[in-house]
Amino acid sequence: TGNDAADRVPIAPQSIDAPLSRSAIFLVVTIAPSADALDAVRSALADLDGLVKTVGFRDLNGRLSCNVGIGSEAWARLSSRESPAELHPFPVIAGSVHTAVSTPGDLLFHIRAEREDLCFELERLLLDALGDAVTVVDEVQGFRYFDSRDLLGFVDGTANPVGLDLPASSLVGDEDPAFAGGSYVVVQKYTHPLDAWAALSTEHQEAIIGRTKIDNVELDDATSGQKSHKTLATIVDENGDEHDILRDNMPFGRPGRGEFGTYFIGYARHLWVIERMLERMFIGDPVGSHDRLLDFSTPLTGTAFFAPPLDMLGALDAPEPDVRDDVEERPPAASGLGIGSLKAHPI
Ligand code: HEM
Repeated sequence: TGNDAADRVPIAPQSIDAPLSRSAIFLVVTIAPSADALDAVRSALADLDGLVKTVGFRDLNGRLSCNVGIGSEAWARLSSRESPAELHPFPVIAGSVHTAVSTPGDLLFHIRAEREDLCFELERLLLDALGDAVTVVDEVQGFRYFDSRDLLGFVDGTANPVGLDLPASSLVGDEDPAFAGGSYVVVQKYTHPLDAWAALSTEHQEAIIGRTKIDNVELDDATSGQKSHKTLATIVDENGDEHDILRDNMPFGRPGRGEFGTYFIGYARHLWVIERMLERMFIGDPVGSHDRLLDFSTPLTGTAFFAPPLDMLGALDAPEPDVRDDVEERPPAASGLGIGSLKAHPI
């Protein structure tokens, strides 16, 4: 991973670059209106580091990790500091045929491990700690499917950034120094009508995705007509620079109920990059030529969050009411979050 600390003790909270895991839980909750609920959430987030160790230490090979994302409304309630520059609610993105819905969510917990039981145990203890301060709005258990395939049968995650490109494309940098080391996160829960997908020829499926199915080889971009998912999800700015994101999609499903899904999760340095990808997929490029993957993938949720760096997670607390009016007088250490110390922190 390039992160020495994570390599030594492979359990961690807020490790955006944790390796793709065999198992994951995606938990989205809303926070109750009371001030007590906010206190309970702040305290649970401050203790998350300890909780991940409590569970993760029982099998270090299980590489338990947990990332917390905070939605924009929740950010304003939980923290006295300004919001991360780009944080705003997930917008509805309506194309002429398909719409990316926007659904509620104050906190996202992205729990990953090599063992399902580690994920389960962390979620159980976490929800115990949060108690009635939160309401669960969505809970999905994802699993690794053969060689990292989605339920459509394609290897998913190949083009993810690696090495130094990984932090460069997934972590906020100097453009927003107070939040450097954090990451914007978008989640969408998709379900697939697998019968309809299976009725397509393999060549047709490959043209939709932009890679071959069995051996995962990239196909050339179409020079005219319909663009593949791979091409629509490639973002090049006006200077010719490509902007990547880090994806950790997981299949989920209950065949007995006809449920077959992909839980999309993307981490990005810039929220606009993920939104641009979604505009190209849903509205199309050119407008009207939407991503044919969406004819076989229905988004049921869509929510945006900011995953702050770990030391900020333990210091979201608003100052006492009597000092709130006079922030200048607080000694820098009171916030526990001097920008200098953040920068020095090896994320
Ligand atoms: C590429 C599947 C949704 C962004 C791919 C690939 C597959 C895939 C199979 C090719 C292999 C790879 O590079 O990973 C899916 C499925 C989705 C989904 C099944 C949901 C049903 C999304 C969404 C976004 C996205 C919502 C962005 C908002 C990307 C990007 C690439 C990619 C950036 C890499 C493009 C490149 O080659 O540079 N996806 N995807 N995907 N997808 Fe998706």
